Amino acid sequence: MKPIDKNEQDAEKLAAARAAVAFIKDRDFVGLGTGSTATFAIREIGEMVKGGLKIKAVASSIRTAELAQSYGIEIVDLGQVSSLDISIDGADEFTEDLNLIKGGGGALFREKIIASLSKNSIIITDTTKKVKQLGAFTVPIEVIPLAYQYVFDQIESLGGKARLRKAGNKNFITDNGNYIIDADFGLIAAPDQLAIALNQIDGLLAHGLFIGLTQKVIMSQGSHIIIFD
Ligand code: A5P
Repeated sequence: MKPIDKNEQDAEKLAAARAAVAFIKDRDFVGLGTGSTATFAIREIGEMVKGGLKIKAVASSIRTAELAQSYGIEIVDLGQVSSLDISIDGADEFTEDLNLIKGGGGALFREKIIASLSKNSIIITDTTKKVKQLGAFTVPIEVIPLAYQYVFDQIESLGGKARLRKAGNKNFITDNGNYIIDADFGLIAAPDQLAIALNQIDGLLAHGLFIGLTQKVIMSQGSHIIIFD
């Protein structure tokens, strides 16, 4: 994929966001993602709400909840929800078979719950996120702090090179009070198998491999919208 500059990338993110929000209907229950691409969608939804659209939403992070509320979007507690009509989120990488790596922003656990609850989980991206094989982006893994060393060692025994995420000189702490390990497995030949192996590690709250959780990826390439579904 040829490199694009930030203005072009932002234009693609906005175009993908606009294409995705067109799927939202009046009275829908909407899941809101986290990250720079999801932010474009949240702003668009805010405009639609100002224009009279009636929706309720859940947020995948504290910053998304605050942003959405600042646009007048009603936010409901995620823990009380059993189904969502639609969700819109970004991704760090995706393949044409709709598998993803997410969690670059550290919100992967709530993002995964939202994707699991959603009847129509839509991922919006610019062209830089499309890959032939997942794994150039390290897999973010949320870990309960007291299980940190155990989980770190288990990841390494699965062949991953584990690194504790930092925020400045402190450990990065998620909205759930946990650590993130970024795990480099190289290019991942069988992401579904790796996801199953990671799921079996006690103390590992969530990993950033989203397998079979996505209904549609909307990618903007220049002025073209390409939908993978
Ligand atoms: C947040 O935890 C992530 O899963 C984001 O959705 C992902 O990192 C994409 O972020 P950008 O839209 O900022 O690239």
